[in-house]
Amino acid sequence: MTVQTFTPSATKAASENTVTQPTHTTDVSMKKLYIETQGCQMNEYDSHRMADLLGDSYGYVLTTNPNEADILLMNTCSIREKAQEKVFSELGRWRKLKEQNPDLVIGVGGCVASQEGDNIQKRAPYVDMVFGPQTLHRLPQMLDQHQAQVEKPKKEKIKLVDISFPDIEKFDFLPEPRVEGFKAFVSIMEGCSKYCSFCVVPYTRGEEVSRPLDDVLAEIAGLAEKGVREISLLGQNVNGYRGETFEGGICTFPELLRLVAEIPGIGRLRYTTSHPLEFSDELIQCYRDLPQMVSHLHLPVQSGSNDVLQAMKRNHTIDVYIDKIAKLRKVRPDMHLSSDFIIGFPGETDEHFAETLQFIKDLDFDHSYSFVYSKRPGTPASELPDDTPEQVKKDRLAQVQQVIKQSSIDKTDAMLGKIERVLIEKVSDKDPNLLIGTADNTRLVTFIGDAAWVGRFAEIEITEIKTLNLVYGELLNLEPDVA
Ligand code: SAH
Ligand code: F3S
Repeated sequence: MTVQTFTPSATKAASENTVTQPTHTTDVSMKKLYIETQGCQMNEYDSHRMADLLGDSYGYVLTTNPNEADILLMNTCSIREKAQEKVFSELGRWRKLKEQNPDLVIGVGGCVASQEGDNIQKRAPYVDMVFGPQTLHRLPQMLDQHQAQVEKPKKEKIKLVDISFPDIEKFDFLPEPRVEGFKAFVSIMEGCSKYCSFCVVPYTRGEEVSRPLDDVLAEIAGLAEKGVREISLLGQNVNGYRGETFEGGICTFPELLRLVAEIPGIGRLRYTTSHPLEFSDELIQCYRDLPQMVSHLHLPVQSGSNDVLQAMKRNHTIDVYIDKIAKLRKVRPDMHLSSDFIIGFPGETDEHFAETLQFIKDLDFDHSYSFVYSKRPGTPASELPDDTPEQVKKDRLAQVQQVIKQSSIDKTDAMLGKIERVLIEKVSDKDPNLLIGTADNTRLVTFIGDAAWVGRFAEIEITEIKTLNLVYGELLNLEPDVA
């Protein structure tokens, strides 16, 4: 498992593995479910929904120990080759568990499942179920089918593979999300229709489909009633949101933000991820008008070179990105900006790379993610000639990461003496007089306070910088509860 020292709450590198954590204590006699999640926030979200589904339908409880599980599920990522390779090595380990316990059920979901389909079972015949990101709601039925044919001879068994894209029906079959704490993710759309030349997402998750407006609003209102104060709207390309309204019209992303901001209890709004092309003036006006929107934006740009952007089919130039950020910083001067960068794209020269490095310095990014380009089968970029040696790409990546890291350190240091709006999330484990919350820019803020304030927002003056992701402060003002 990759351990990160800095994990912003609304963004995440698409290469970490996580194990979905139980929130309740478990009884030893209960049936247990282990879920390993690779990849992005959308997969994290989906894994929680799988746990809710199998918990509600069959009473499975989550475990963090694969050795004691009755079902093992792997929610896979295929964004880069390395992530995809991990699937089969991990499945090899699970095979040994199945040899010890033949009743163990193994399921593979997510983007590798979507891409490989029944090839998964050809390579790993001990896998019982294969499902895609859009068919995970059918897991209970798949499990029933699996149980019904356990006793059958091998040649009579049907293969349980369902990686179709049945529009947006998934959400109609998912149970209400469980609430843990004051923050929640809400998926508003699935898939992506941008077809950047390097990216597998449109092929593995399908084209963009938005959830109907009323479903999204009802889910958020329900979460707010259960105490949630911060919502992160999720999707591969959220500003492509076109949700159908009750009257049959279409609600755009900026319109959705305005409606969410009106829901009593929602004191803070984040979203991830959006595309620069659809980062519209209407969206910028939301930052001007809605205090709930955080001064933190993750807006992937991928490269600081126009030639590379064109080859990536990003459909905008560097100037377009710079102009939009300038407009945004006009209405929100304290905006923290982070991004994704792909280094060593086919044809990236030293000059192109120098442009990217300069661009990162000029735009003054906060913590951003950077990856060496990975050739993905079936994508247009995989056909492009690529003669840059791997070592050169790795050296470029190291340079970019150094600049990004320094920039994040500078951003944390600059918080000294500033006033930050903080969502108070818990009492410190170490000292009951200390409270811990998160600032807009995702840094943890610790200060002296009362446990009764947990779940509220406060203005905190930052008095000491402890680490890249942890600062100390003093309470200036406690906001009334927003509910
Ligand atoms: N809109 C999505 C993009 C998902 S992919 C989002 O940002 O959530 C996440 C990031 O993975 C991309 O922004 C890109 O920087 C990186 N990525 C995608 N395909 C890649 C590839 N073939 N090689 C290297 N990095 C890639
Ligand atoms: Fe991938 Fe580009 Fe969409 S990076 S997710 S095709 S915006």
